[in-house]
Amino acid sequence: MVRRFDPDVPVPEEVVRELAALAVRAPSAGFTQGFDLVALLAPADRDRFWAAASEPGRTDAWLRGVSAAPALVVFLSDPGAYLDRYAEPDKGWTDRSPDRWPIPYWDTDTAMAAMLVLLGAEDRGLGALFFGVPGPRHAAVLEAFGAPAGRRVVGVVALGTEAARVSGSSRTRRRRPLDEVLHLGRFGVS
Ligand SMILES: Cc1cc2nc3c(=O)[nH]c(=O)nc-3n(C[C@H](O)[C@H](O)[C@H](O)COP(=O)(O)O)c2cc1C
Repeated sequence: MVRRFDPDVPVPEEVVRELAALAVRAPSAGFTQGFDLVALLAPADRDRFWAAASEPGRTDAWLRGVSAAPALVVFLSDPGAYLDRYAEPDKGWTDRSPDRWPIPYWDTDTAMAAMLVLLGAEDRGLGALFFGVPGPRHAAVLEAFGAPAGRRVVGVVALGTEAARVSGSSRTRRRRPLDEVLHLGRFGVS
């Protein structure tokens, strides 16, 4: 993940379209495809995002570095699309109850779509960061971009060229070794 972008190297709209075309290939529960991408390439649009997404008065190195990114893609999930899809005859959940979803697959699928954009960016030698919007700012972000009712802000992918290598606050954490993560047959076996 890149956290300091060069503001002077734009990401062409064509490249963002190619990356979004990868997101469209993401797997989704019931092939619902209940995600939307809002691409912010124009400075005025990005300014609108940062004004809506940031806590008032916040200025720090993270924000300076990431807000320099020339392209942002906001990933929104659409729970209603899943409730509609699963009310269809082949699924049959006509009560449209969110309680049927122990895991909110609308958010899972949207995250998978974001992962494809991250991988596509890496393939093209671009820098990218997936980051979250603080909970209290979600409504402002949705409103700033005219999102239809019910959408959820799953996260944002910033795209651009890395200006400097900086780590996040999690840098001291080690990568968990495979033997700790992979359980063959059951926990306790690797
Ligand atoms: C769901 C999710 C949310 C994240 N949110 C942030 C964030 O808000 N700010 C940030 O700087 N990095 C964020 N990250 C990036 C992680 O910190 C990063 O992936 C992790 O430290 C591992 O680093 P690497 O991806 O460079 O290997 C997020 C990653 C994920 C998957």
